[in-house]
Amino acid sequence: MRVAFVAAEVAPFASAGGLGEVIGSLPKALANLGVEAVIFSPRYRQVPSGLPRIASFSVDFAGAPNEVNILQGFLPKSRVPVYFLDFPPYYDRPGIYGEGDRDYPDNLWRFAFLCKAAVETSVKLQSPPDIFHVHDWHTAFLPLYLQALGEKAKTVLTIHNLAFQGWFPREMWEKLGLPQETLRLAGEGDWLCALRAGILGASAITTVSPSYAQEILADGLGLDEVLRARAQDLVGILNGIDVEEWDPQNDPYIWASYSARDLRGKAFNRRRLLGELGLSGEGPIVAMVGRLAEQKGLDLLVASLDRLLALGINLVVLGAGESRYEDFLRNAEKNWPGRVRALFAFSLEWAHRIFAGADFLLMPSRFEPCGLTQLYALRYGTVPIVRATGGLRDTVWDMEKGGNGFVFEEYRPEALLSAVERAARLWREDRRKLLELRRVGMSGDYSWGPSARKYLELYERVLSR
Ligand code: GLC
Repeated sequence: MRVAFVAAEVAPFASAGGLGEVIGSLPKALANLGVEAVIFSPRYRQVPSGLPRIASFSVDFAGAPNEVNILQGFLPKSRVPVYFLDFPPYYDRPGIYGEGDRDYPDNLWRFAFLCKAAVETSVKLQSPPDIFHVHDWHTAFLPLYLQALGEKAKTVLTIHNLAFQGWFPREMWEKLGLPQETLRLAGEGDWLCALRAGILGASAITTVSPSYAQEILADGLGLDEVLRARAQDLVGILNGIDVEEWDPQNDPYIWASYSARDLRGKAFNRRRLLGELGLSGEGPIVAMVGRLAEQKGLDLLVASLDRLLALGINLVVLGAGESRYEDFLRNAEKNWPGRVRALFAFSLEWAHRIFAGADFLLMPSRFEPCGLTQLYALRYGTVPIVRATGGLRDTVWDMEKGGNGFVFEEYRPEALLSAVERAARLWREDRRKLLELRRVGMSGDYSWGPSARKYLELYERVLSR
């Protein structure tokens, strides 16, 4: 079976978050199950140069021929090819989606070009795949191109985040030259929606956790009607992580390796982390890692920061995002010297070190389709403190119910504070219990294995229809 992934991000080449990490790891797990997986993604400026050019041809787009080069890389430690579409006018820019707080205004065309070029390239390079597996709004409307070109391949759409839907004015869509009946899948009004086209046009739809699948059927953020129309073809499959890349026993980024059996290395990483970041060292280290966006519960942090610090914790934040949150954190560093540190970057190296050295990971998300950071944290014996939503609900259970972390329900500062307070108390008063909790987390299976098999079964079902 041949499956072509088409996506806006692929780690470690160019990634802004969870989407890229999934595209950088799921295809490897599928390849281990015998799937011939390939990936198509743009050659952004941050994709390393020096990749070999394996083809170049012309793609008709928006009424004109455009010369595209295809560069080939491989996912690290694998034989999964990544085909980068090299088209500088669209992709040779400082950002993936935009710069600062602003998206590029031509994003519809940038990603339509990716869809069209991926379809045409796969036809020209080899026989086309059995399935195009597309991800989020950026490639959700690839089925429109298949229809327009009369290609028979099936499509699977994975929704990593329903909050990003890809709405653009009709005039922009009309420039794409798609037939009117095909365009109708994207909507009927003055604004058309890329994700809607995918939901209606894909052979099957997945999202990244079972709970999120239920949540979006209950509240479809404006796409309720089309989601419910396809409810039979929508499943939630939990994300996995690359457990070889994320392995505290074998991790080149961290200061000392460790395992569930012998956690002394974790204590060493903790001391180094405190020292490197200039933190006081009294009280537990609570980390937040991820995009600084409202989705991630940053408002809750803003509303409770002083009370949180009054509990005696050290706060470490790693991630870039909205400038209002970066400004807030910069201020917090000044007001709480030695107690708050924020690193505004997506640094893989620091992510590993923080998971290895922190005591707790805080994820107070407003909503969370899956979330991967809680899985990395669990694997590194860093106990998650999460709000019960989406994939967090499916992966973290409260310790009072024999679980692996701390869970709170309501999206309110008081709920977050009481969960962190329970965690801080455990850290101070019951080291044995805390150690046990770390071990429970570390012994879980977060690999792609079980979920990759679910994707394979889904592909088989789709192909047998
Ligand atoms: C998005 C979601 C996140 C999910 C990731 C990968 O970033 O916000 O919850 O884990 O996609 O599917």
